[in-house]
Amino acid sequence: MTQDEMKKAAAIKALEFVEKGSIVGVGTGSTVNHFIDALATMKDQIEGAVSSSEVSTQKLDAYGIEVFDLNSVDDLSVYVDGADEITEHMHMIKGGGAALTREKIVAAVAKKFVCIADESKQVPILGAFPLPVEVIPMARSYVARELVKLGGDPMYRQGVVTDNGNVILDVYNMSILNPVEMEKNINAIVGVVTNGLFADRGADVLVLGTPNGSKVIS
Ligand code: 5RP
Repeated sequence: MTQDEMKKAAAIKALEFVEKGSIVGVGTGSTVNHFIDALATMKDQIEGAVSSSEVSTQKLDAYGIEVFDLNSVDDLSVYVDGADEITEHMHMIKGGGAALTREKIVAAVAKKFVCIADESKQVPILGAFPLPVEVIPMARSYVARELVKLGGDPMYRQGVVTDNGNVILDVYNMSILNPVEMEKNINAIVGVVTNGLFADRGADVLVLGTPNGSKVIS
């Protein structure tokens, strides 16, 4: 199986977590694109979706799946999203697609976070993938200096503006031994909107695409 086939296998398996008649939280990325394709096959059995990015919204719209504003939704039973890295403790790095802030907001509302990923995303320790940090544009240089103090090497992601009008710093060489503490410390820097550590609220279930098909870990 190719990496993309493993992503697809995980995405299709995740349909088992979608409750009939519910509004589904939908993440962003190539794995989630497979999930949206799969969700479209049961679109008459769900009420609609809440989306974590403009890109996912467009794809959901194209399938005729109603996209609700999160503010009009009290309850989300499940949020399905990919990850750039995930550990056995279900801590993740996300934000490779620059959608981390909306992803974290929708994840916060959902009762269950189902992470869908191919097996290359499983890691013993987070941090080989550069950690994305969404920053208010005028604070970019200040936040970069503060991230250096925390031990990282921030790089401005040139040409990228998030759906919220902000910029992304990708932090290389960060030693992330305590992801929950690191998530809080980075979020405490003035000018940071949020960072791509999903540790305080990690995944509840990992649906992993492997060469032998999909595997559910919880
Ligand atoms: C987007 C994300 C994605 O979930 C993450 O980058 C994984 O993407 P892909 O499914 O394309 O490998 O956090 O901001």
